[in-house]
Amino acid sequence: MKFLILNGPNLNLLGLREPDIYGKQTYADLKSFVESVCAREGIECEVRQSNHEGVLVDWIQAAYGAFDAIVMNPAAYTHTSVAILDALKAVSLPAAEVHLSNIYEREAFRHVSYPGMACIKTVYGKGFAGYEEAICFLKNHLEGKE
Ligand code: DQA
Repeated sequence: MKFLILNGPNLNLLGLREPDIYGKQTYADLKSFVESVCAREGIECEVRQSNHEGVLVDWIQAAYGAFDAIVMNPAAYTHTSVAILDALKAVSLPAAEVHLSNIYEREAFRHVSYPGMACIKTVYGKGFAGYEEAICFLKNHLEGKE
């Protein structure tokens, strides 16, 4: 089982970026957390981050035939990107959306998620643990348990 874990704009600045909202741990911490969860679950993974919408779209397209599932925190593109939604629909891989913060308790513009419309699971407001929940959900889903 091989998962692609994608992170959108500004998540490379975790630790520095609005620590009251996103915490003090860095992107490197997030990457090693996700890699350790996948290793524990016996899942191969690639964890990537980009600030560019088209790069994220290219990676989703290239995931077809190469990965079994996608976990994605689209960050700010969550609230704007029909292109990411369409890419997820195009490849039709099981996908789960993660947000570190509780987007539903923040500004109204964060309450809409376009990529979320192509995801079978959304986890928000749980910090790094949200990635673990999404990974385990998709693993169970692929094994026919969820
Ligand atoms: C985020 C929430 C988004 O609204 C925001 O633009 C982000 C991060 C989160 O992880 O909580 O960049 O996706």
